[in-house]
Amino acid sequence: MENLISLVNKIQRACTALGDHGEGSALPTLWDSLPSIAVVGGQSSGKSSVLESIVGKDFLPRGSGIVTRRPLVLQLHKIDEGREYAEFLHLPRKRFTDFAAVRKEIADETDRETGRSKQISSVPIHLSIYSPNVVNLTLVDLPGLTKVAVEGQPDSIVQEIENMVRAFIEKPNCIILAISPANQDLATSDAIKISREVDPKGERTFGVLTKIDLMDKGTDAVDILEGKAYRLQFPWIGVVNRSQADINKSVDMIAARRREREYFANSPEYKHLAHRMGSEHLGKMLSKHLETVIKSRIPGLQSLINKTIVELESELSRLGKPIATDAGGKLYMIMEICRLFDGIFKEHLDGIRPGGDKI
Ligand code: GDP
Ligand code: NA
Ligand code: MG
Repeated sequence: MENLISLVNKIQRACTALGDHGEGSALPTLWDSLPSIAVVGGQSSGKSSVLESIVGKDFLPRGSGIVTRRPLVLQLHKIDEGREYAEFLHLPRKRFTDFAAVRKEIADETDRETGRSKQISSVPIHLSIYSPNVVNLTLVDLPGLTKVAVEGQPDSIVQEIENMVRAFIEKPNCIILAISPANQDLATSDAIKISREVDPKGERTFGVLTKIDLMDKGTDAVDILEGKAYRLQFPWIGVVNRSQADINKSVDMIAARRREREYFANSPEYKHLAHRMGSEHLGKMLSKHLETVIKSRIPGLQSLINKTIVELESELSRLGKPIATDAGGKLYMIMEICRLFDGIFKEHLDGIRPGGDKI
């Protein structure tokens, strides 16, 4: 099954690489039909921290204010061995092994699109991370929801961010990672508010509670984590990320994960929930869930892919020979990936259909 997620990743990247040429064809529809996981929440709720914990690396720009101003589509690829590295779609063939440089490139690429003006843009940045320490997963980091514009930003930015987030998470194939900080009243959570709007039954929303370590003395998050305060189809997951002081002291991810594990295992109130708490558990559970979703969508995806192949073929023949031109080359590449995809889907379909009848 790990194969399936990485194939979906390939299709997603291929669709993006095609860019303009995809217009009017089935490709945009195909992209929207592929499941992905979007991280939503208020400013400073801990979105970037959760993403970094899942990846196990420091690589996201951080700071106060609206740091994330473009969606970041992050594809994690598990490799068997070797050194971890990152690659941006806009810088093909450049391998980053220094994750501080990754962080800088995200910030620079954000500015290139938004002109350093603290504006936002819905044009995503695509980043792939290859590592033996990740699970196969596609995650989208979105700008944080906010109630007030900061200096230098127009008031309209509040609504613009909300609209951008909503456009991503209202797609039925989007799995929502709703981040709420435990040191604020859940009733005021931006993440819960917007995810309830697009997914009222909580069928594709995972509730993540951050900052459990920062709760007032004498209070705890047991009711929320047990699903009694706000019910979702999936169990809530509590996490303890690095504090700002930890970050300033450069506490590394491995140490932070260990401390998080110990936190849940050793707190009398959370001990009974410890097996399903923490960032490591969150990453594994999301990967498993993504696999299940992809598997259940195989028949639908497959017919879309067949439609895409037909359209690409006719587009290719319209372009005529030679297809070694840029546009033709890309179309051809996508078609090949689609065919590969189709083949793998057929294999899996045999496995999930009663009687395993061939199609
Ligand atoms: P974002 O704006 O939603 O991406 O939030 P960040 O991940 O940048 O986190 C905002 C601040 O809260 C940073 O200073 C983090 O160190 C801190 N933070 C996030 N999660 C936790 C947590 O679980 N515990 C503690 N103590 N601090 C956290
Ligand atoms: Na922030
Ligand atoms: Mg952030």
